[in-house]
Amino acid sequence: MHTGRKVLYTGASGKLAHTILPILAKTFSVIAVGNQKAPQKGDWQSVQADLTDDKLEALIEQSNPEIIINAAAMATDRQCYEDPQAAHRINTEVPEAIARIAAARDITVIHFSTDQVYEGKQRNYREDEKATALNIYGQSKLNGEARMLQQQGHSIILRLALTFGLGTGDALPFSHALINQLQAGEQVNLFEDEYRSVLYIPDLATLLVALARTAGQIPAGIYNVGGRQSVNRVEFAQMICRQFGFSPSLINPVKAADLSFAEPRPADCSMNIDKLLAAVDWQPRNLDEAIAQMHRHYHSR
Ligand SMILES: NC(=O)c1ccc[n+]([C@@H]2O[C@H](COP(=O)([O-])OP(=O)(O)OC[C@H]3O[C@@H](n4cnc5c(N)ncnc54)[C@H](OP(=O)(O)O)[C@@H]3O)[C@@H](O)[C@H]2O)c1
Repeated sequence: MHTGRKVLYTGASGKLAHTILPILAKTFSVIAVGNQKAPQKGDWQSVQADLTDDKLEALIEQSNPEIIINAAAMATDRQCYEDPQAAHRINTEVPEAIARIAAARDITVIHFSTDQVYEGKQRNYREDEKATALNIYGQSKLNGEARMLQQQGHSIILRLALTFGLGTGDALPFSHALINQLQAGEQVNLFEDEYRSVLYIPDLATLLVALARTAGQIPAGIYNVGGRQSVNRVEFAQMICRQFGFSPSLINPVKAADLSFAEPRPADCSMNIDKLLAAVDWQPRNLDEAIAQMHRHYHSR
């Protein structure tokens, strides 16, 4: 049922928005904010704005939302490593500014952080364990979380796992790009030593609906958000092969630990999601079910 509540969604030209916007728009009046790219067309109002300039406050004032979902970010470790100042602006300063403006206006902020705030040396991280990001991306997000919480407003911070699903255009979720490669019969090198609590993007969308519906009742703070199963990319790709009928011989397992990177990579960022499940009426699908649904959607597009 449509609530008429206004939701401002930043990062609306990003990979997750393709799935999230149509689901949000069934329940809320959505204002979708892209930056260099326009958001896809749909049943929402589209705006293009650079959130790092001084017009952020005017954007929020004019939109007058009850809820802001902040998915805008520099969202890859490589981009952040190459331009740490830009990463600081969009991943740390912008969330701080949004939380400050929102606190003064009684707006709830739902903010996307990352599982890469964790060092990745253990498994099943809980929110109250020490987060020690290994890379600039994770550190810029961790700093953003801390600055948001200092604003004392109502910020719900989601430490989001690696997500999977379908997308559109040239910036596809990793799962969609992987399916395209396997479909084309290409060999793919995938890490067998990095584990994530992968989450199906439509499940993230229904979580956002549940959070935005009941936003005022959910305690502000940090929540781990992922699926219940932790897998490495080889295991994930094998599940895709079984469901889609691709040959598993196309998968070449490699170890990230054997390669050299500009920054260290967190190995196991799997997370415990009990805090989230206790706060909101929502459940992620199990992995087999989610991949089966993705398979149906892939062929019905
Ligand atoms: N995808 C995942 O699996 C995953 C996992 C963990 C956490 N997250 C977090 O989830 C969020 C969304 O991820 P995503 O994969 O959808 O990211 P994405 O595809 O890289 O999209 C990033 C979005 O941020 C916008 N943006 C960047 N700089 C901006 C600026 N200065 N002003 C306004 N908007 C700006 C981009 O707009 P333009 O492209 O139009 O410039 C784009 O819409 C991020 O916070 C990311 O850290 C994602």
